[in-house]
Amino acid sequence: MKSILVTGGCGFIGSHTCLELLERNFKIVVIDSLVNSSPLALERVKKLTNKVKNLSFYKGDLRDINFLREVFFRLKDENNSISGVVHFAGLKAVGESCYEPLRYWDNNVNGTINLIRVMEENNCKTIVFSSSATIYKVTNNLPIKESAEIQSINPYGSTKLVIEQLLNDLAINSPQEWRISSLRYFNPIGAHPSGLIGENPLGKPTNIFPLIMQVGIGRIKKLQIFGNDWETFDGTGVRDYIHVSDIAEAHFLALEFLLEHKPQIINFNLGTAKGTSVLELINMFQEVTKIKIPYEFTDRRKGDSCTVIADNSKAFLDLNWKPKRSLSEMCCDGWRWQSNNPSGYL
Ligand SMILES: NC(=O)c1ccc[n+]([C@@H]2O[C@H](COP(=O)([O-])OP(=O)(O)OC[C@H]3O[C@@H](n4cnc5c(N)ncnc54)[C@H](O)[C@@H]3O)[C@@H](O)[C@H]2O)c1
Repeated sequence: MKSILVTGGCGFIGSHTCLELLERNFKIVVIDSLVNSSPLALERVKKLTNKVKNLSFYKGDLRDINFLREVFFRLKDENNSISGVVHFAGLKAVGESCYEPLRYWDNNVNGTINLIRVMEENNCKTIVFSSSATIYKVTNNLPIKESAEIQSINPYGSTKLVIEQLLNDLAINSPQEWRISSLRYFNPIGAHPSGLIGENPLGKPTNIFPLIMQVGIGRIKKLQIFGNDWETFDGTGVRDYIHVSDIAEAHFLALEFLLEHKPQIINFNLGTAKGTSVLELINMFQEVTKIKIPYEFTDRRKGDSCTVIADNSKAFLDLNWKPKRSLSEMCCDGWRWQSNNPSGYL
């Protein structure tokens, strides 16, 4: 049985992916600093699988290289060497990154450099990295292919972009050694259908879906929609929402692909290739939950773009991955999680 290190495994996408990988018979070792999550997420994951003994957790920060070395050393000592890494750990709030760029660069980039260094020291050269659609240059050329032009417009995006460049340099320098896949997520939402695990931002959420759910549970009175004058059919921004369980499945497929093929670097868009406007998302949420979401329009937010939709054909061709869950399932599952856990993991 192969052991996989999952950094940031207590987080939203990490916890769903841990469950997926456990069900696919991997041994999972999670590292997480808990800066934006709770260890209870893994307790919930354990409730959803009978492979509990294959999950272990080390609390710590990727920026602490001695901690990382110790985890790798301990695993080797137990004859449990890491075959590959799924690297989620990072700070992810675009707005916050504009006010605290140094914190974002330090956490995301320095954390990744440490991780790569310790992977090299242990001859572990397989990594699936959580990248983002924010690295694409704003474009009207839709849907966006992996080969589209890249340009970051905020510090968060810059950290993702520079990490992709680092991974690219590793692949160029040692093409016979590294197996690398950056997965560029579009807009992951929803939750596991059990309602036991889901998105649990510790501060005030900034993404649209967690905000809608906070209005749903009454924590926020009104949703602010940034702009109703975009060049879209109803004036609100259009995004490509994708169910977190579909994203989790793609991680398994990307990891399996890397482990079974020769060393290479290969990047994939993870989206549904369907655009949904903010108003359509709200309408769908209201329809499936029967809960009214009051909203108001405000000015456009700096750094936002009009329409972002993935071309996901490469992931289908190479990984045989196709998102299966509908927008209504995303809303329904997300709400089940939020309404069962109004205060997150407590
Ligand atoms: N959720 C999205 O909309 C989205 C979109 C594109 C990309 N991503 C990327 O996917 C990854 C996972 O996102 P998520 O939504 O699950 O976020 P999340 O905040 O729920 O999970 C990230 C996890 O990483 C941990 N972490 C952060 N910095 C760390 C460090 N230095 N050392 C150890 N642990 C650390 C946090 O405590 C958290 O558990 C992130 O890298 C994010 O940038 C997310």
